[in-house]
Amino acid sequence: MKKLLLITGALAFILGGCGGADDTEDPAMDDDGAMEEEAADDGGSVSAEEGMALYEQNCMSCHGGDFEGMSGPALEGYSEDEVLAAIEEGPGSMPADIVTGEDADAVAKYVAEEG
Ligand code: HEC
Repeated sequence: MKKLLLITGALAFILGGCGGADDTEDPAMDDDGAMEEEAADDGGSVSAEEGMALYEQNCMSCHGGDFEGMSGPALEGYSEDEVLAAIEEGPGSMPADIVTGEDADAVAKYVAEEG
């Protein structure tokens, strides 16, 4: 039994270590990233990581992996409400309601914080 506990502990350590490595992948984002993660923890039901995954699936192809813009404009300096409005309305050639409900909240939060 003791051995099993040790293995579980080691696994948790390894997994934790990997998460940390991911966070530091982009050195430019480092300082902000750490602070925003804490803020997101207090912020309620939607997590920044969820928002990031949703952004990559639904928005990145038009707005770029770094919010730099591609076929859509760069997403820098938008507030959560502005992003939500854009998701609902689908301005110009952007499709409306690509994500809805909590997913939309998570993406909007992510774009507002990171963009
Ligand atoms: C098919 C391409 C496409 C996808 C996918 C897409 N967008 Fe857009 N987006 C656009 C285009 C094009 C515009 C500019 C529309 C215009 O004003 O003419 C735009 C504009 C915006 C704006 C600015 C609105 C404003 O009022 O200035 C925001 C914010 C935005 N998109 C967020 C998102 C988010 C968040 C997602 C993912 C949920 C997303 N977009 C997915 C193409 C896209």
